[in-house]
Amino acid sequence: MAGNLSQVDMNAPVTPDAAQTLTWVQRFSVGYEYPVVFTADLFSPDNPVLIETLCRLEAGRCHRCLVFIDDGVLAARPGLADDIRAYADRHRARMTLAADPIPVPGGEKIKVELHFVEDMQRKLFEHGIDRHSFVIAIGGGAVLDAVGLVAATAHRGVRHIRVPTTVLAQNDSGVGVKNGVNVYETKNFAGSFAPPFAVLNDIEFVEILPLRDRISGMAEAVKVALIRDRAFFGWLERNADALVLFERPAVAYMIRRCAELHMHQIAHGGDPFEFGSVRPLDFGHWSAHKIELLTKYHVRHGEAVAIGIALDARYSVLAGHLQPGADERIAATLEHLGFRLWHPVLDKRDADGSLAVINGLEEFRQHLGGELTLTLLTDIGEGLEVHAMDHSLVEQSIAWLKARAEGK
Ligand SMILES: NC(=O)c1ccc[n+]([C@@H]2O[C@H](COP(=O)([O-])OP(=O)(O)OC[C@H]3O[C@@H](n4cnc5c(N)ncnc54)[C@H](O)[C@@H]3O)[C@@H](O)[C@H]2O)c1
Ligand SMILES: [Zn+2]
Repeated sequence: MAGNLSQVDMNAPVTPDAAQTLTWVQRFSVGYEYPVVFTADLFSPDNPVLIETLCRLEAGRCHRCLVFIDDGVLAARPGLADDIRAYADRHRARMTLAADPIPVPGGEKIKVELHFVEDMQRKLFEHGIDRHSFVIAIGGGAVLDAVGLVAATAHRGVRHIRVPTTVLAQNDSGVGVKNGVNVYETKNFAGSFAPPFAVLNDIEFVEILPLRDRISGMAEAVKVALIRDRAFFGWLERNADALVLFERPAVAYMIRRCAELHMHQIAHGGDPFEFGSVRPLDFGHWSAHKIELLTKYHVRHGEAVAIGIALDARYSVLAGHLQPGADERIAATLEHLGFRLWHPVLDKRDADGSLAVINGLEEFRQHLGGELTLTLLTDIGEGLEVHAMDHSLVEQSIAWLKARAEGK
C-alpha cells in the first residue's frame, strides 16, 4: 500500500471532525479464469465442449444463449445456423437458443458503424439476456471485438463466449481480454477490458478461410516467436511449407503455440489491463498500424505486421542490437510464408518531406499513452524496449525492404 494510506477499517471510530481530510484506500482483487479450448467440429451434436462450457458454473440449469454469427462465416458455411439449432435441440435440457442465430456484418464494417453495436444491444434487450445468460460470438476478430463490447456493457457485463474463426482471432485477438469499436476514425476508441467466459477455437473454421486470410494471421505467430520463443521461430522456419499448404497438424500447432504465448504474456506480463506503456505483443506494430491507416485497411492487419516485423528487424541490426543476418533470416521466413514485405505506401512522403509512415511513431505513442515504448530485437526470441527510433535508420530500413522487393 502506498505511503501511510490506510485501508477502510470497519472497527475504527468515525472521525468527529468532518472538516478534516481523510483518505481511505478501497482495495480488493478479482481473479479471472477462463478456458481456452481447441477442438474440431464444435457444433457436431456429439462434441461436448460447448455444453460443458455453458454448464461450467451452474450445472443444473438450462442456459439461454444468444448467438451472433459473422456473415463472412455464414457465406463460407451456409449450414452453420442449422448445425447450431440441431446442437441446441440435442442438448435442450441444458441449453436453449433465445432466438435464431443472428447474422452480423463481418470485417471492420461492424466496428466503424456504431449503429451495429446498438442494434445488437437491442437484440439482447428484446430477448431478455441477463447476467446469467450467454452471448456467443462466432466470427473474425472484428465481430468478436464488437460483440465483446456489447456483452461487456449490457447489464454492465453478461457472459460472453468467443468462437474465433480466423487464424488471427484464434492465435491472438480471441484469447485476450480486450474488445472495442472504432469511433472518431480512431481504432478501438470505444472499448473495454473484459475477459470472456470462454474461448472455443474450432480448427475447421480457419480451414474455410480464403488463402489470403489463412496466411495473414501467421504474422502474429512470427511476431510472438521473435520476442519470446527462439525454438518456435525455428519451428516456423522449418515448417513454412506445411503452413502455406495449410496442413492441419502444422496449422493447429502454430495456432496453439501462438495463443499460448499470448496468454502467458497476459497472465504473467504484469499488466493484463495495459495500465503501463510497455506492450511487447505490439512488436512490429507501430508501422503496421500506420500502413493499415494509409492504405485505408486494404492491407490486412497481419500483412502490415509482417512488413512491420521485417522493418524493425532490419532497424535492430542497423542500430547495433541484433546480429547482421538475423534480419535476412526473419524476412526470408516471412516471405516463405507468403508475405510480401513491401507496399508502395512506405514511399509516401508528407508535405514536409518526411516519410508518412514515420509519423506512425507519434500515433503509436498516443495509442499507448504515456512514454513511447517500442520493442526491438537483440536476438531471435529476445526483445528489447526502447523509447525512440532514429528516423534516418528507419528510412534506411525501408530502403532495404524496397531493394529486397525489387530483387536487388
Ligand atoms: N481485441 C484484441 O485484442 C484485438 C487484437 C488484434 C486485432 N484485433 C482486431 O481484430 C480485427 C481483425 O480480425 P481478423 O483478422 O480476424 O479479420 P476480420 O474479423 O476483419 O475478418 C476478415 C474477413 O474474414 C471473414 N471471415 C471470418 N471468419 C471467416 C471464415 N472462417 N471463413 C470465411 N470468412 C471468414 C469476415 O467476414 C471478414 O470479411 C481488427 O478489427 C483488429 O482491430 C483485436
Ligand atoms: Zn496484431
